[in-house]
Amino acid sequence: MIRIAMLGAGRIGQVHAANIARHPHAVLAAVADPLVENARQLTDAWGGHAFADPLEAINHPQVDAVVIGTPTHTHVELMLAAVRAGKAVLCEKPVDLDLEKAFAARDALGDDARRVMLGFNRRFDPGFSEIHRRIAEGEIGDFHQLLITSRDPDLAPYGYLQTSGGIFRDMVIHDLDLARWFLGEEPVEVFASGSRLFAPQLAALGDYDTVMVQLRTASGKQCQINCSRRAVYGYDQRLEVLGSAGMLLNDNLRETSVRHYNAQQTEARGPLLDFFMARYTEAYRLEIDAFISALRANQPMPVTVNDGCQALRLADAAQRSADTRSVVTLD
Ligand SMILES: NC(=O)c1ccc[n+]([C@@H]2O[C@H](COP(=O)([O-])OP(=O)(O)OC[C@H]3O[C@@H](n4cnc5c(N)ncnc54)[C@H](O)[C@@H]3O)[C@@H](O)[C@H]2O)c1
Repeated sequence: MIRIAMLGAGRIGQVHAANIARHPHAVLAAVADPLVENARQLTDAWGGHAFADPLEAINHPQVDAVVIGTPTHTHVELMLAAVRAGKAVLCEKPVDLDLEKAFAARDALGDDARRVMLGFNRRFDPGFSEIHRRIAEGEIGDFHQLLITSRDPDLAPYGYLQTSGGIFRDMVIHDLDLARWFLGEEPVEVFASGSRLFAPQLAALGDYDTVMVQLRTASGKQCQINCSRRAVYGYDQRLEVLGSAGMLLNDNLRETSVRHYNAQQTEARGPLLDFFMARYTEAYRLEIDAFISALRANQPMPVTVNDGCQALRLADAAQRSADTRSVVTLD
């Protein structure tokens, strides 16, 4: 059994703690949160010791690995502390909001980076991972274009947006990671367009509510990411890949597949699964499973700190491109 400490008992901490506790080869050994009542709620539900100080959980002798689900600015410090204590790490995205700090953390980890996984959960979504596998099996021939649609149901609270790092580093970073994973090579050109179509208050933050990003790799593969902070019909998460021999695409998920027909409408379906915790339930479960499986088999992590750094590099390039309304070229 792998004994895991959950750092941070907020939105994502609650999801991960439950998945750790339910895993057949892991136990939730500890939960740490300065709001110790939040930590205690999770240990009451799933077991383990509650701590206010994350370092106490990291250094606890009965902890083999930690999952970092704390606010982004604490990730690097906690990741380095855990690795120095000999613990394996699954760290939430993004590594940091500062690109130099993220790359410095990767370099400081050295060989220990192989014991750190980054939390890009969408790679574990059953639909996305099936498309990835079927492309690798040659089902659509040569890869030409990837289209990603990624829309939140509504604008996050202003307090969240103030510290989020902006739509590219906070939200599009998930899609940029998917893009790198699907394209199989690094983009060398980034062109992004950013608008404030419904949230003028974002001007004060230099942020946008609606963006499009285009990527191109050295061999000419293309990707377009459409992202909005608001889609009135719900959390819209779709992906489409065109190749020389066909196309693969996935639909949004709903609670059931029932469709309604009457005199006014046909094909009427229930609402989309609401937001990330419901839409990506299975992806989060499989992500924790991949982390535990890699540890038990002493295999390299399936998503690395370098993946986190490269996605952040693309997010920074997209921000620069949108701000300057020009194409950004990367080496
Ligand atoms: N992969 C995903 O889909 C996904 C989804 C949501 C959030 N996230 C990431 O997870 C992280 C947390 O986001 P959230 O939405 O859960 O935030 P949140 O505010 O809901 O929870 C954060 C928790 O961490 C606690 N905390 C603060 N400093 C701490 C410290 N030093 N040690 C331990 N706990 C500490 C807070 O008290 C709070 O309870 C962010 O980096 C975010 O980008 C990822």
